[in-house]
Amino acid sequence: MSEITEVLVDEATLKARIKEMGEAITKDYEGKTLLLVGVLKGAVIFLSELAQRIKLPATFDFMAVSSYGSSTESSGVVRILKDLEESLEGRHVLIVEDIIDTGLTLDYLYRHLKSRHPASLNICTLLDKPSRRKVNVPVKDIGFEIPDRFVVGYGLDYNEMYRNLPYIAVVRP
Ligand code: IMP
Ligand code: MG
Repeated sequence: MSEITEVLVDEATLKARIKEMGEAITKDYEGKTLLLVGVLKGAVIFLSELAQRIKLPATFDFMAVSSYGSSTESSGVVRILKDLEESLEGRHVLIVEDIIDTGLTLDYLYRHLKSRHPASLNICTLLDKPSRRKVNVPVKDIGFEIPDRFVVGYGLDYNEMYRNLPYIAVVRP
């Protein structure tokens, strides 16, 4: 059993910040066509909200990765479960993630996607736990910095549950 102990970011605050992020991305990529790469499954809800706030031509693609480890700790060994369907060659690619914790997953993904010769490659994350970082990853946009707590909701899960909460909450395993 587990329980929600505290709401960390409420729905209105999430929506307002994601709107700002979309506006910033719209400025950054003015005149370009974007390829948004969502990391399944956690980034799906963030990506769908963010994409609607980006006023540019854009396409979506998705990857699924699994990082070996327990349900709350990543190991840095990343396996690709589902690869992209589109070529990245010459594209402006923005990786959309739910949360950066140790950074190990994104460090791997960033280097892996970079080797496919995109015109540009950047990272956008809804949440960041900077205190837990083990490797430095180049993140362009961060929604919220959060403390070292295990959070769920808005796409994030604990044992696959709570992804559909419309806010970010702390869960006690
Ligand atoms: P990293 O490789 O340690 O940066 O871990 C990144 C992945 O671990 C994220 O994409 C999430 O799937 C998962 N993760 C890290 N922290 C949390 C959390 O607080 N709640 C839910 N999932 C998390
Ligand atoms: Mg994830």
